[in-house]
Amino acid sequence: MRYSKPDVGVMGEEWHRAAEVASVQPGDAIVARVAGREIAIFRIGNEFFATDNRCTHAGAPLADGYLDGEIIECPLHQGLFNVRTGQVMCAPPLRPLRTYEVRVVDQQLEVRV
Ligand code: FES
Repeated sequence: MRYSKPDVGVMGEEWHRAAEVASVQPGDAIVARVAGREIAIFRIGNEFFATDNRCTHAGAPLADGYLDGEIIECPLHQGLFNVRTGQVMCAPPLRPLRTYEVRVVDQQLEVRV
């Protein structure tokens, strides 16, 4: 697991700087600490998706899982989630993942929290 730089969000706004675009390779994920939350940022081609990093089943770190297209496989019990929607695609998780909007500003990823 790789961690990005600490949260440097702008006070009073909902968007928070999370990481440099170049820190996330296509098909990979990083973990960013944003506004006190541990958020996984996934890169699919040149699109970015952000979810809570912790699996809703037993809390495993999803950024350590296997990303296949839009589907992340949890590294602990192989539950599946869609990183675009947070929807559970395969048990054992029952609750969806929280997702966050992501945008690119000046080669920086920002997450809306
Ligand atoms: Fe993710 Fe169990 S902790 S499926």
